[in-house]
Amino acid sequence: MSNSAIKIDGSRLWDSIMAMAEIGPGDEGGSRRLALTDEDKEGRDIFVQWCKQAGCHITIDDLGNIFARRPGQDDSLPPIVAGSHLDTQPHGGKFDGIYGVLAALEVVRTLNDHNITTRAPLEIVMWTNEEGSRFAPAMIASGVFAGLFTKEFAYSREDVDGLTLKDELKRIDYLGEQPCGTHPIGALFEAHIEQGPILEANRNQIGIVIGGQGQRWFDVTLKGQDSHAGSTPMKGRKDALVAASELILSIQRIALDYAPHGVATVGQMSVSPNSRNTIPGEVFLTVDIRNPDDDVLLEMRDAFEASLGKVHDSHGVVVDSKEIWHCPPVVFDQECVSAVRNAASRIGYSHQDIVSGAGHDACQVCRVAPTAMIFVPCEAGLSHNEQEHAEPTDLEAGCNVLLHAMLEMTEQVSSE
Ligand code: GLV
Ligand code: MN
Ligand code: MN
Repeated sequence: MSNSAIKIDGSRLWDSIMAMAEIGPGDEGGSRRLALTDEDKEGRDIFVQWCKQAGCHITIDDLGNIFARRPGQDDSLPPIVAGSHLDTQPHGGKFDGIYGVLAALEVVRTLNDHNITTRAPLEIVMWTNEEGSRFAPAMIASGVFAGLFTKEFAYSREDVDGLTLKDELKRIDYLGEQPCGTHPIGALFEAHIEQGPILEANRNQIGIVIGGQGQRWFDVTLKGQDSHAGSTPMKGRKDALVAASELILSIQRIALDYAPHGVATVGQMSVSPNSRNTIPGEVFLTVDIRNPDDDVLLEMRDAFEASLGKVHDSHGVVVDSKEIWHCPPVVFDQECVSAVRNAASRIGYSHQDIVSGAGHDACQVCRVAPTAMIFVPCEAGLSHNEQEHAEPTDLEAGCNVLLHAMLEMTEQVSSE
């Protein structure tokens, strides 16, 4: 059989995804494997074991990113790499991230089945803390890899219990030795579920991802005054939760003003003292604003900052807002994007170009290595939800595109 005819094993891919989902199972059919928890360690351990069984050599860097290498004919060439993340949201699905890692493993297994040695080596990558749910911001280890964050910044990130990313990396035994960012990458591919409704609505099986939208994240604290719920008159209260409610509605209005591309979310909030008969004196909340155009994203940020001033004026609360992350929009590498498009066309899958609404490790690494992504549909566009579902045939199609895009790039990569 010529290399252009080989296909991956869709049921083996599906079984691996289902086996991974059993680690840190959620209550409603999804997964809960927050970054650097015991569950994340268990998922990493199994992944490493599977890679070794497939004949790969493992390297772990000092951010806990795992690279599994399948040698090529010319090992001096930079590897063609594919992967994603294994950490999940608190109510995560079985596919977000996991698919990209295990699709890359399925590519390696398929090449093993066919005794094919590629010209350049192939590698599978698993990035640490993509989700940013336990340690903010998201995509932190791929961000260090791309030189966007310092290692010290990443190490010092704390979860809600004050545990640091570095201590947790050490605790689960994934603080490797290779300095993050020094691992060579000839080209990077990331297969992922779309996490939105476009492919399904257009009945396309493959999304050729041409870039990703920008995002800005903020930590906001509103300080009012704790006071008795029964005896404090309504007039003159400094109720931080009422102020937060107004702020949340203005954030929603800003996104609607920038429809259809603008989106904005308050996803995390804590109320102090969180007692039913005390007026809340303090609220902490997070804000996530996104737009594919960086100038428009800036306008949305300005509108958000203006709304902070209004909340202060009308509720007498002191507002402190810090922008903790700006991830500008990205455009993927033309050669890598063409390799994905060529593969989808040659195999005959219906496809379309698409811009990613979600953040991905590929959106960080694309700043230092040629990169592209492959999307497959997910049911009703639902993701970051335990009900997240993708059809086995679509996952198989995306993995076949990944295989053939990688094969094309192994022929093109050079050592400069
Ligand atoms: C990553 O999951 C994101 O927030 O886009
Ligand atoms: Mn993801
Ligand atoms: Mn995610």
